[in-house]
Amino acid sequence: MAEGGPKGSPFFLGTCRRAGETKLMPREKKLYWDKSIETLKPGELEKLQLARLRDTLARAARSPFYAPRLKEAGLAPGGLNSLADLGRVPFTTKDELRAQGLKMLTLPLTEMVRLHASSGTTGQATVIYYTRKDIATWADLVARSMYMAGMRPHDVFQNMMGYGLFTGGLGFHYGAERLGALTIPAGAGNSARQIQLMQQFGSTAVHIIPSYALYLLNTFAQSGLDPRELPLRLAFIGAEPHSEDMRRRIEDAYGVKAYNSYGLSEMNGPGVAFECPEQSGMHVWEDSYLLEVVNPQTLEPVPPGELGELVFTNLTREGMPLLRYRTRDLASFEAGPCACGRSFRRLSRIQGRTDDMLIVKGVNIFPLQVEKVLMAMPEVGSQYLVELTRENFNDVMHVKVEVQPEFFREDLKYLKQLQKRITEALKSELLVTPRVDLVEPNTLPRSEGKAQRVVDQRP
Ligand code: COA
Ligand code: AMP
Ligand code: ZN
Repeated sequence: MAEGGPKGSPFFLGTCRRAGETKLMPREKKLYWDKSIETLKPGELEKLQLARLRDTLARAARSPFYAPRLKEAGLAPGGLNSLADLGRVPFTTKDELRAQGLKMLTLPLTEMVRLHASSGTTGQATVIYYTRKDIATWADLVARSMYMAGMRPHDVFQNMMGYGLFTGGLGFHYGAERLGALTIPAGAGNSARQIQLMQQFGSTAVHIIPSYALYLLNTFAQSGLDPRELPLRLAFIGAEPHSEDMRRRIEDAYGVKAYNSYGLSEMNGPGVAFECPEQSGMHVWEDSYLLEVVNPQTLEPVPPGELGELVFTNLTREGMPLLRYRTRDLASFEAGPCACGRSFRRLSRIQGRTDDMLIVKGVNIFPLQVEKVLMAMPEVGSQYLVELTRENFNDVMHVKVEVQPEFFREDLKYLKQLQKRITEALKSELLVTPRVDLVEPNTLPRSEGKAQRVVDQRP
């Protein structure tokens, strides 16, 4: 939005994106979505966290999974004296969530109105259930995040994340509607159509996976359109690791300010930590997510500012609060206060993972999922190799598969059919389409120790 007009005037001359015309519009003075929360002093925040943690533990104690854990830790309702007492509760892991997720519910399943799922370590998805209130709380956090970055009700927001079981699509969708922006549920893929939607509706804000934002520039080039000529002004980028250089490229190419967005399904989805206009780390919404940063080996807290694994406890989730959830994401706290005035601490970019999860085209993939699919096919030998590369900023997943000797024939039609079947089986499990290469028996490299199954050559 091009802002003009006299300084101090409650109005400015701007283009109303929805109407496509220039007119006087109210100057948005409010900087915060919820000032009373966003500027809480550390002591006040801790008080709020403690009260919310007590409520959370009381709720969690109603779940078959957490009840015995809390009892053992002496943290039955009322037993919590300080936030540090939470350290007596064991960590919750992805495997536990996958295997015992339903036992973590604090209310009957009939009270849940939605579920989302993300890849599980052994190929079975981890599922998160939400009550109506959870959806509303989450939407408010996402709205707060987008508002902090500068999105306002007059914006036209195009959501280019995957809808469906991914949280990125519906999470931002509900947040944008809560904020009051006109929301275009474009979903992932279909590049030409994305550009057409941007043109037709004058999108001013987008939610997009960073590598795809750069890949989409090829489609822009083919269409002869310069994205800088569009009214775009904001981009929310997340779901995969990306560098400062990548952010700047996106900003330059699209003529936008791009903000890093972090979240994970287990903690609702997006809206856990988000960048403010200072772009110097992501504020963690600590009124809703209690964060510990621990050494992944010792599981002890790391000194402030050091890299460690993020461990979150929900403070405002009703139906399925998770306590001390090990995310496997590595990051550190940024030092010092933020110039934006928000008191919530800021996280660095996500620096890596402590497990073998891969993120391909914004989709989480565990190598074991590939193995599970391949090993269920009698034609496939015991050796396979996953190679990840980037072509034109698009992630490409090559899966090289050794065919069992008894199935390896010089029959092109048969081999093509086999290749197609493997590709489809992998796509159905992984949600991305790999390029499958069939290779002769005993041709893939063998290693002495643990087999190296994945070679990630992406920058
Ligand atoms: N985001 C959005 N669209 C993408 C994409 C991404 N990260 N990567 C590729 N695409 C586009 C491709 O450009 C292609 O469209 P086009 O041919 O019109 O240009 C289309 O999606 C399909 O591409 P393909 O490479 O054949 O996809 P696939 O079958 O391997 O994967 C996707 C399908 C892209 C839909 C799937 O990977 C996806 O849903 N990604 C987004 C995940 C997401 O939203 N994560 C957020 C988690 S919170
Ligand atoms: P999902 O549960 O499918 O939403 O995936 C969540 C995971 O995606 C996180 O645990 C991170 O590993 C990764 N992720 C999400 N946002 C970001 C981000 N902004 N930067 C890097 N990785 C991210
Ligand atoms: Zn800030």
